[in-house]
Parts: sequence; C-alpha cells; structure tokens
Amino acid sequence: MPDTSPIGNYRNDTLVLGFSDLDRLRHERPLVIAGGKGVFVTDERGRDYIEAVSSFYCVALGYSDEELVEAAIKQMRALPMYPSGAHRTVPVVLDLADRLAAIAPIKDARVAFATTGSEANDGLIKFMWYGNGHSGANARRKIISRRGSYHGGTALTTGLGGSAALQESFGIPTADHVYVSQPNWPDAAEPGESEAEYTARLAGELRAAILAAGPETIGAMIAEPVSVSAGMLPPPKGYFAAIASVLEEFGIRLFADEVVTGFGRTGNMWGSETFGIAPDCITSAKGLSSAYQPISAILMSPEFHERMLAGSKADGWLAHAGTYHAHPVAAAVALKTLEIFEKRDVLGHVRGVIPAWHRALDGLADHPLVAGVRKCGLAGAVQLRRPGAAAKAGSGMKLGGLGRAGYEAGIEQGVLVRPVGDSLVMAPPLIIRESEIAELVHRLRRALDDVLAGLAPA
Ligand SMILES: Cc1ncc(COP(=O)(O)O)c(C=O)c1O
Repeated sequence: MPDTSPIGNYRNDTLVLGFSDLDRLRHERPLVIAGGKGVFVTDERGRDYIEAVSSFYCVALGYSDEELVEAAIKQMRALPMYPSGAHRTVPVVLDLADRLAAIAPIKDARVAFATTGSEANDGLIKFMWYGNGHSGANARRKIISRRGSYHGGTALTTGLGGSAALQESFGIPTADHVYVSQPNWPDAAEPGESEAEYTARLAGELRAAILAAGPETIGAMIAEPVSVSAGMLPPPKGYFAAIASVLEEFGIRLFADEVVTGFGRTGNMWGSETFGIAPDCITSAKGLSSAYQPISAILMSPEFHERMLAGSKADGWLAHAGTYHAHPVAAAVALKTLEIFEKRDVLGHVRGVIPAWHRALDGLADHPLVAGVRKCGLAGAVQLRRPGAAAKAGSGMKLGGLGRAGYEAGIEQGVLVRPVGDSLVMAPPLIIRESEIAELVHRLRRALDDVLAGLAPA
C-alpha cells in the first residue's frame, strides 16, 4: 500500500475530486503530485512516476519546459489579462488564430477560442444551432456520436458518447443525441466477417440510425479520429470514408474532436490526416498549449462560418463569449507551443520513436495478463484478461476490476496509466526518448506481475 498518511495540516475530504471515489477520499489521501520534469512527475514524498498518459493526454512537450514557462511570464508581465470579445482582443490571440488556420486541415479555416475541450465541443454545437437557425435549417439540432466516446463534461457534451456511467447517474438530457457503435476491429466483428464487411456494417448502422431519427433533424456527427476514452480502439480500414459518404448523402456535417489526437499524437499534426478524415469543423485543446495553460480552439470551414455570419448580420452580433476564452497568457503559451513544434521538429521526433513505442508495447503481449495490445501513433493500450478467462466484449469509462488493479499497481511501480474498462491506456509526452519508453514498459511489466500475483484463484 502507498503511504497515504497525512502530510501537513490538510484534511482529506475537503476537496471534491472528479473521476474519484468520494468515499475513498474521506479516509485515503489521493496521490499528490508536486513537481515534474520531462516525462516524469514527482509526488509530495519525492517518489517519481513516468507519466505514461501525459496527465490527461495533454502535456505534449513534457514537464518544466522553460520556454513555455518563459512565454507565460513574458505575457503575464506585458498584459496578464484582457478578454477577447466585444470587438476587442490582444495581439497574441490574433497571431494564434492565424497560426492555427495555417496548419489546420480545413482550407481557409476560421478559428474561435474557448478554455477547455468540453467548452470547444459545447461551443461548436451551439454555433451549429446558431448557423442552422439562421439558414432555414432550424430542425437540424441532433448530434450523432459513438458510444464510449468522450467529448466533455458540460451538460451538453456529457450527452455525447452514450456512456451510461457518465450520463444516467446525472440524468443528462439525451433527446438531441443519436448514438451509434464505437468501431472496434477486430474484436467486435461477427465470426467470419471481413474488415470491409465490418466497415460496411457500421456504415449501415449509421444509415439506419439517421433514418430512424429523421435525417432532417440531424445537424452533425462528432467523432474522435481514435477514441482514448473507449480504450484506443482502432477504426477498421475505410471506416471514416464510409461514414463520410453516409453523412454526405443526408447533408450531415462531420465534426472531428481532435482534443486528444491534435498536435502530433498519431504521428501527424492532426488525427484527421492520419485517418484520412475531411471534417467540416475540428475542436482541439490539450496539446495546443501542451496543457500548461487552459485553452481550446474551434476550427470551422468557411461555409460553416458563413452561416454564423448570417446570424450575426441578423442579430447584430454573435451573442457568445467567455471571460477566459483566448486568455492572453494561455494564447501566448499556445503560440510558443506551436513554435516549438516547428523549431524542435517535434513531429519528426514522434515519428522517430513510434517504432520503438510499438515494439515496446508488443513486447508486453507475452505477459499472462495481457490479452491484446493496441497501438496508434504515440499512444496505445494493453487489454487485460485473467488467464483462462473468456474475452469480454465492450468497453467504456467505467473501471473494470483488472483496469483498476493495473492502475493501482502502476502507481506502486512508478508508472501512471489510464484504466478504461479492463484496459490500460497510454499516451506519453511526445518528447519521450527510447530509453524512457523501455523504462516505462519495464515498470508496467512489474505492475502486471504484481496484479497477477495478487489474483485470487478463479
Ligand atoms: C476526446 C476528448 N474530447 C473532449 C475532452 C474534454 O476536454 P476537457 O477535459 O479539456 O474539457 C476530452 C477530455 O479528455 C477528450 O478526451
């Protein structure tokens, strides 16, 4: 057991922590991280851990990057805060918008900022309703999403994804949502079904869902290029092309949630490039500022923006803003992050270490607890299963027993992973070196050994 005895004068149960067991917090101190350097973080007792998930898939450039720190300090000194809204903004925000538009996989993209990934998705849907409302398409309110996906924690975005664990207990309204399956090749294929047949089945399911909900009531489908919350399940070949052609048939937009996959995670700047997706709009956050500051962005096609313009002309303004949207310090850090991506050739580094990362994950496949390994760019997952147990279909945010055990054992062994069902998801900082990959996998293997040793006989 980790030492969870109190340090200092804290009470353990004052803080209400999300994605945590509130009752456990009353008697057990949470893991308290006090510092970090590169791919390592250090807890309040000085123990180090490899952050195999870049915190919440976000600290792309690792911890304590001096240039990012300096960028924040410089902006703090120049102008620590000025809101962007009401026909006012600041220089770094204008620069950042241009810079993002230049690298976006959407031609002539327009850019709006928010604070978090959830807010970006929430805002995008609001913008869609706005644009539709001003272009004779008011009825197109519904959004299609894939079960097990995660698009945020606001009341609207929690409704996306269709995960019972996140929605039912909160009574989240789901009337505007249409759900389809999360692709999971080959595990969710029927016996004897080929990859092409599986893809066609998913496209058929989407078509049927659209017809059942009423095509003229649906505005968009939102999807991550690959969903970490569903356990890093890879789409089958041709999936996005098949989905796009169904959506096009009914005039439904495709929104790519690149909150996790944006900024290098899949080996390209955008997951949309990796998976051949041509989205109408993109949301991004996390890696945009290496998560040193909270900032997110909505990238829109000119046609989408035209409809918003129509709304603004009718109303006299776009009645939407937020105090911290495009906060200048966050924008300065994001601008510096994009500069670092270029000058340090972060993408080149990611592409260089991906083979070692994939080999390292494959090396875990012989462990008796590992039922399978999934890899995508500089991310991946190991699927756990009790030796001798039958495969279990499905995944989701809810913790499985083995996932939780693997996560806890990882803490003991100094590696922080993300449990999703019975799998352990990883997405280390993009700056990870081959020697650190080897150390990460070494610690994870020891954690799996501990879980195996602790299993009660079946
Ligand atoms: C794919 C995806 N979209 C949106 C979000 C929400 O982002 P945030 O936590 O910044 O609100 C997350 C968070 O992990 C995510 O993984």
